[in-house]
Amino acid sequence: MNLLENISVKSYNTFGIDVSTRFLTEAHSVDDLKEIIEDRRFAAVPMMILGGGSNVLFTENYFGLIVLNRLHGISLEREDENHYYVKAGAGENWHAFVMWCVERNYAGLENLSLIPGCVGASPMQNIGAYGVEMKDHFHHLEALNTETLETERFEFGDCRFGYRESVFKRELKGQYIITSVTFRLDKQPKFRTDYGAIAQELEAMGVKDLSIRAVSDAVIRIRRSKLPDPQVLGNAGSFFKNPEITEEQKIQLLAMHPDAVVYPLENGNYKAAAGWLIEKAGWKGKRIANYGVHEKQALVLVNYGGAQGKEIFDLSSQILDDVKSRFGIQLEREVNIV
Ligand code: FAD
Ligand code: EPU
Repeated sequence: MNLLENISVKSYNTFGIDVSTRFLTEAHSVDDLKEIIEDRRFAAVPMMILGGGSNVLFTENYFGLIVLNRLHGISLEREDENHYYVKAGAGENWHAFVMWCVERNYAGLENLSLIPGCVGASPMQNIGAYGVEMKDHFHHLEALNTETLETERFEFGDCRFGYRESVFKRELKGQYIITSVTFRLDKQPKFRTDYGAIAQELEAMGVKDLSIRAVSDAVIRIRRSKLPDPQVLGNAGSFFKNPEITEEQKIQLLAMHPDAVVYPLENGNYKAAAGWLIEKAGWKGKRIANYGVHEKQALVLVNYGGAQGKEIFDLSSQILDDVKSRFGIQLEREVNIV
């Protein structure tokens, strides 16, 4: 086991927060994970799994063990008349995995192109973008129970996926290490180009014949134009979730702000665009010392270099309070706070 001690996590989180961890190691197999869990040196300290570190904010030094999930491998497990079933190791890079599917014309994940991070974290918050969520093509996953050291299989219903939610982020938090995810991909693409600016982008690209590759390219272009590249500007994507509001709240919001962005949900409630609320409250593009709110996307908090996680966390608290007092709407953080 290659064990590092008292080292900075700066290069392991996309916010680029420079705090230290007591221990850090990598796992390349389920056996590695078992060996790490059973190692008596770590018996008394907390343990955390990281993939790409693109959905965490470190607010203080970590006095435990960080295990980088590096379980690799992508394989076509089986196929039937309509689907391919593809298994990916939890440590595979998400975007590289999506490209693997796009290259083979396995349809379904193309709208999720260019999301940072690893396959193993994708079920944690049921990643989503441009009208598609990971759950739409999820088949099952395997996870190591950190108590029993048994590998367990979770079917769709076991995972309780919701908007940026799963059982692994809630009831089973910290109890399982996801080791692989198997996806069900379509032989016949069902293109989702209705969401956001995809259709417009395809037109600007001069695309005549729709293809999996073209949709992926359009999504990549839109994302590059809106979201900061963590290699250049530290961030963790949307810091807040889009809140669900009631019919009554929607009526009140639109009465005061007819231009507010709200979408109907199937359950009769509405989804409000948190980016709109934060922008309307005057936070968009606001810079405080070396951190702030992104100038093109108010949902994204950024580290211009050298900011402390605690400062970014405090900024997020100010935004939560301000949005609540102005609009009566309680936002919730999406990013995992450590
Ligand atoms: P990490 O940050 O490493 O981990 C996230 C959480 O999952 C942590 O609590 C960690 O302990 C846990 N975890 C990680 N791996 C495992 C495992 N194998 N088993 C158990 N627990 C684990 N998200 C979206 O949904 N949609 C978007 O469009 C989107 N856009 C983004 C754009 C940018 C520029 C950035 C920086 C982020 C964006 N995100 C988006 C957020 C992020 O990319 C996703 O949440 C991604 O799935 C995180 O993967 P990761 O490997 O980096 O997870
Ligand atoms: N908006 C504003 N001001 C802003 C940002 C957005 O008014 O500063 C308005 C836009 O005008 C638009 C609406 O809000 O009408 C939605 O904006 P956008 O399409 O940019 O998406 P979003 O709701 O801000 C969500 C996800 C993203 C995902 C995109 C695309 C959440 C929390 N965020 O953002 O996911 O990539 O949709 O589908 O659901 C992430 O989770 O990290 C993430 C980046």
